[in-house]
Amino acid sequence: MSVTATTPNDLEPFWMPFTANRQFKAAPRLFVGAKDMHYTTADSRSVLDGTAGLWCVNAGHARPKIVEAVQRQVEELDYAPAFQMGHPKIFELAARVANMAPEGIDHVFFTNSGSEAVDSALKIALAYHRTKGDGTRTRLIGRERGYHGVGFGGISVGGIVKNRMFFGSLLAGVDHLPHTHSIEHNAFSKGQPEWGAHLADELENIVTLHDASTIAAVIVEPMAGSTGVLMPPKGYLQRLREICTKHGILLIFDEVITGFGRLGEAFAADKFDVMPDMITCAKGLTNGVIPMGAVLVRKEIYDAFMDGPENAIELFHGYTYSGHPIAAAAGLATLDTYKEEGLFERCNEMASYWEDAVHSLKGLPHVIDLRNMGLIAGIELEPIADQPTARAFEAFLRCYDKGVLIRTTGDIIALSPPLIISKQNIDELFGTIADVLKTLP
Ligand SMILES: Cc1ncc(COP(=O)(O)O)c(C=O)c1O
Repeated sequence: MSVTATTPNDLEPFWMPFTANRQFKAAPRLFVGAKDMHYTTADSRSVLDGTAGLWCVNAGHARPKIVEAVQRQVEELDYAPAFQMGHPKIFELAARVANMAPEGIDHVFFTNSGSEAVDSALKIALAYHRTKGDGTRTRLIGRERGYHGVGFGGISVGGIVKNRMFFGSLLAGVDHLPHTHSIEHNAFSKGQPEWGAHLADELENIVTLHDASTIAAVIVEPMAGSTGVLMPPKGYLQRLREICTKHGILLIFDEVITGFGRLGEAFAADKFDVMPDMITCAKGLTNGVIPMGAVLVRKEIYDAFMDGPENAIELFHGYTYSGHPIAAAAGLATLDTYKEEGLFERCNEMASYWEDAVHSLKGLPHVIDLRNMGLIAGIELEPIADQPTARAFEAFLRCYDKGVLIRTTGDIIALSPPLIISKQNIDELFGTIADVLKTLP
């Protein structure tokens, strides 16, 4: 593929998200092209994508069917109003996504991002209870170390201190479950760790404190990605489900990362065999090509809104770009690509090779934990004293110099490659990380 390598003259005006702007602009890392498993940098180097962009390019880059669908759609219907109007492809996509969702989840509300999907799901939970005459159920329960995007709802239920501490008092009436990460009990677990199911029982204590009649919903990532790849302990999600059901609390799985094949199934709800009441998703829905998110809801929730006069708007919520035609076209072509290429099955086929590669790093300098599931891995490093995040960030820079893109969060390396990754790519990814670990300060 030919790309025009350009470095902009002025990097200053763009305020980059979740980035050390001054550090980056002093030594920029720019991608100018991408195909399948690789990026091309502005200085014409090829970089192996170990992170599917930001956990989103599940089918790999510039896949022909998706490229074609987007090109065709922009000519055919570039935009249609999202309110009181529609277009055929978004109905088709909703039906396809509902069809892939766990049994009983059969309606889809579209957004433009994971953050919007989360805030939409929280609002739907509140409105649902109110619609049913349960208007006292206004509390939202998240979890420590949870990441649910950056809207006020998402950061309120989220549990990452830096994402919360600068932004005032956030939503009122939010509580948090404890996180489930324990190196002491679960280090070097393969798949789901043994220890920690009892941490779900903390929800009972929260219910005792506030009373179930005040609680609308619990939101968790079935596998927490952004906070460093935290696997759900065996039995934990089942226990959360039981307690939510017992107390009439809605359970929301935030599957923005785990949706669309990352764990070898369409959704983690299938993988763990636990049925939430709502699923939020984004990223892999369109292969990251065009922004799109969604909230998937159970029939009972949708139906609860459908009993007023037929000419009444049932939910006062939506975005100008809810169900954008180009995103819809990208979504349909993405789902086709997953299906035609059997990519979720491929994830399962590659998972044991991946697992062996992850755990081959055991014993290398600084490695204090390794964890994996599907095509995800977390490599936790001992932080440098008084310099948290510095060691992992240095690993990121060195891997990038050696032609491999990894992602770090805190002192954890998080890997989540496109599902088309080959064994050779896996060898290169982990070989490079191993080399870098041996030379890190
Ligand atoms: C679980 C989860 N929820 C929500 C989000 C936010 O998605 P977005 O960045 O598309 O707003 C993310 C992003 O990584 C995520 O991992």
